[in-house]
Amino acid sequence: MSDSTCAAIDMLNTYPLLHFALEKNGTSFSENKHGLFPKEQTVLTTRRSDVSLSTWGKDLEQSAVAQQRNPREGEMEKKSVSLEGKKVIMVPYMEAHVPKYHEWMQDPALLQATGSEPLTLDQEFQMQLSWTQDPHKKTFIVLDKEMVVGDFIHGDPHVEAMIGDVNLYMNDLDDPHMAEIEIMIAEPKSRGKGLGKECVLIMMAFAVENLEICIFRAKIGESNGTSLALFKKLGFKETSYSEIFKEVTLELQVTKPKQEELLHLLGSVLTHA
Ligand SMILES: CC(C)(COP(=O)(O)OP(=O)(O)OC[C@H]1O[C@@H](n2cnc3c(N)ncnc32)[C@H](O)[C@@H]1OP(=O)(O)O)[C@@H](O)C(=O)NCCC(=O)NCCS
Repeated sequence: MSDSTCAAIDMLNTYPLLHFALEKNGTSFSENKHGLFPKEQTVLTTRRSDVSLSTWGKDLEQSAVAQQRNPREGEMEKKSVSLEGKKVIMVPYMEAHVPKYHEWMQDPALLQATGSEPLTLDQEFQMQLSWTQDPHKKTFIVLDKEMVVGDFIHGDPHVEAMIGDVNLYMNDLDDPHMAEIEIMIAEPKSRGKGLGKECVLIMMAFAVENLEICIFRAKIGESNGTSLALFKKLGFKETSYSEIFKEVTLELQVTKPKQEELLHLLGSVLTHA
């Protein structure tokens, strides 16, 4: 990668408004929760959360404008809902969560498992803005209910209980009803207790009910047996494999019975607004 490309990526991660300058230059990028990467023609359909910025047009322009720091951000965070299940509470991603999130993403094993690049703290703050304000993205920070100190208060970040995140990315230009889904239970002590599975189910139910999603996609490293087992258990089927990234793509079509199952589940989820 040339020095100028490295510098451009760094700038792009720090200043999302630069998307357009680069887009006009004919440069396209891949993006996931933790950064932007230059798109190479050979990896067009294999990179995690892959998207060609050059084709996003107006939506991206509006989204980039929305990503400028907003003095009313605190208010916007409060307007988003929190979703309370049996074991987890999924809350909006707030600025107060960023330092701990950044700390998690220093762990090479987590970076590898989630297909992420390390970011500076400032870049992580920019990512938080992008993920909370971009209409193509939906994210929640996951709280372990057992770790919440005192009563849960919607709008309070409850950093003491944050253990991971769950994301949706509507990144298929040909299909607005498709969403890529990602889950991370970053705190090792909270793994293997059913929290990851509950988060994915609640996120899918939320997406079916509120975002008209009919197909979910997950891209998982072939060596990530736990994540593969989780998604397969939920009914996802393998649809492709990337030799380059050693990554499996799994998909779940929301059939009528699946839709009913998810909406039934949503009935038992408490929404805090
Ligand atoms: C992968 C991950 C999300 C799983 O979340 P979790 O809360 O630990 O998983 P759950 O307890 O909800 O288990 C769900 C299913 O996953 C599978 N699973 C969980 N732990 C497992 C393990 N240690 N080995 C094999 N399968 C396992 C089981 O099928 C389980 O279902 P079951 O309990 O009904 O048998 C979590 O471990 C994690 O975030 N790891 C690090 C980051 C990562 O890999 N993220 C995914 C990137 S695609």
